[in-house]
Amino acid sequence: MTFSVWLLVCFCGLTLGQNVFTQTDVATETGSCFPDMCKFLKEFGAMKAKLEAVETNLKEKSEALETRQTETENQVLELKKKDATIIAFSAATGGSGHIGPFDTDTTLIYRKLIINVGNAYNQHTGIFSAPVPGIYYFTYFYHAGGSQVVNLSLMKNNEEVVTTYDHKTSHDVADNGGNAALLQLQQGDQVYMRMHANSHIWQNDHITTFSGVLLRPL
Ligand SMILES: *[C@@H]1O[C@H](CO)[C@@H](O)[C@H](O)[C@H]1NC(C)=O
Repeated sequence: MTFSVWLLVCFCGLTLGQNVFTQTDVATETGSCFPDMCKFLKEFGAMKAKLEAVETNLKEKSEALETRQTETENQVLELKKKDATIIAFSAATGGSGHIGPFDTDTTLIYRKLIINVGNAYNQHTGIFSAPVPGIYYFTYFYHAGGSQVVNLSLMKNNEEVVTTYDHKTSHDVADNGGNAALLQLQQGDQVYMRMHANSHIWQNDHITTFSGVLLRPL
């Protein structure tokens, strides 16, 4: 009997001691926690995962937006470039009556503007200056009295590109003529009409004209 009681006490003591030991162990171990703390950590973990998902989503969205912004900026630049390269002019000599004949070659000045998109043609000097490198198309037409010589050249810098000539005659009253050329120009190249010495043309707002257009920038 005494032995049994002792055994019981001993057994209980052992169980108690074990309980105390287990509790202390739980409190100090980092991976485990009290029930409230456990719940908090679980929720915190879920929140963290959600936040990371939102972060990834935002990052993807912002990257997509950045790509779209770059595309839009490039399109705007393209459009600006296109706008800047619309170059076209048409002009008539204006005034009335003869110009010439003179003893020397002169640059014909077409003062009466019909259009001058891009302002590459100067109606005070008669000179077109290429604002961008490209393929350009130029035409000119003239009207003149038949009794005098017409000798005109479309010039690129100092070089004659295309010309027109009409002999002096006594039997036809008036002459009309013209020519045209496609030119590859560098930026700053000058194109203008030269009226050669001893030649003349007739001028008004509509009849003797000079036109040019940029077909394609290069
Ligand atoms: C036209 O003028 C140029 C330059 O003065 C001259 O060389 C050319 O011979 C003239 N054309 C004609 C057909 O006379």
